[in-house]
Amino acid sequence: MKRDFLRLWDLSEEEILSLVKRAIELKGGADKGKCPLIGKSIGLIFEKPSTRTRVSFEVGIYQLGAQSIYMRPEEIQLGRGETIEDTARVLSRYLDAVMIRTSGHDRLVRFAEAASIPVINGLSDLHHPCQALADVMTIFEKKGDLQGVKVAYIGDGNNVANSLVEASGRLGFTLTMATPEGYEPDAEVLETARSGKGDIILLRNPKEAAGMADVIYTDVWVSMGEEAQAEKKKKRFEGYQINSSLLSCAKPDVVVMHCLPAHRGQEITDEVMDGPNSVVYDQAENRLHAQKALLEMLLA
Ligand code: CP
Ligand code: NVA
Repeated sequence: MKRDFLRLWDLSEEEILSLVKRAIELKGGADKGKCPLIGKSIGLIFEKPSTRTRVSFEVGIYQLGAQSIYMRPEEIQLGRGETIEDTARVLSRYLDAVMIRTSGHDRLVRFAEAASIPVINGLSDLHHPCQALADVMTIFEKKGDLQGVKVAYIGDGNNVANSLVEASGRLGFTLTMATPEGYEPDAEVLETARSGKGDIILLRNPKEAAGMADVIYTDVWVSMGEEAQAEKKKKRFEGYQINSSLLSCAKPDVVVMHCLPAHRGQEITDEVMDGPNSVVYDQAENRLHAQKALLEMLLA
């Protein structure tokens, strides 16, 4: 029976913790040169741009001994109107798994339902679960635990925020979120996470959310595909910037996280991005290790 990874909720608490443990082992050099996925082929479909997801998957797949096949819709028949279901059925006859980055989450679900091989969400409008795996790994590395950790998310209740909500729901860390009205995380995602261990508090005031935080997390105000709303959103999110003044509300050893790419000067200042509390590049590196652990779990 194939296993998909479309949202973080698809994994149990035990599975997430064991993936984090395995990712830390892999980062430390365990099994270097071993190729558990030798002979396998993994498709990477990108309907939106990517730096981290593309390169970390391609490198990770190579390190595990498999090959990756990068596909943009305009280069395959999907871009000429072949249905997502037919694409999924045909690719399932050649490949061992597919990672897909697309817009509507329903499109991803349709692809996964038609595919007979594991499908991984490389970002949809609703979720970014591979990012959340690396985020949880980073928090664990930096804080030594997840229990009792207070994470403050400041900004847009977007795909990255939704996956962080599900991480809190599975793992039980406290997640305090400050968003402008109308930009809260998805209602169904919140309900799902709160049915688990999620201790999720929604606020408006960024300073209140950042109070005594161990981790401050932000993401862009304007996600891919939202360009038409850019000016409106930039105005709406004024006051939600991660800057030195906001950092002073948190614990002195607070770590600052951002999934990247950052819009320096908007949601985060240069001073904070490049400052001593920032762990954004470790977080980006962890995408590689966390996804290798995920691929091993789904395919080895
Ligand atoms: N964080 C993230 O997914 O980055 P990319 O868009 O560069 O893949
Ligand atoms: N929320 C952002 C994340 C990019 C990795 C977007 O969807 O564009």
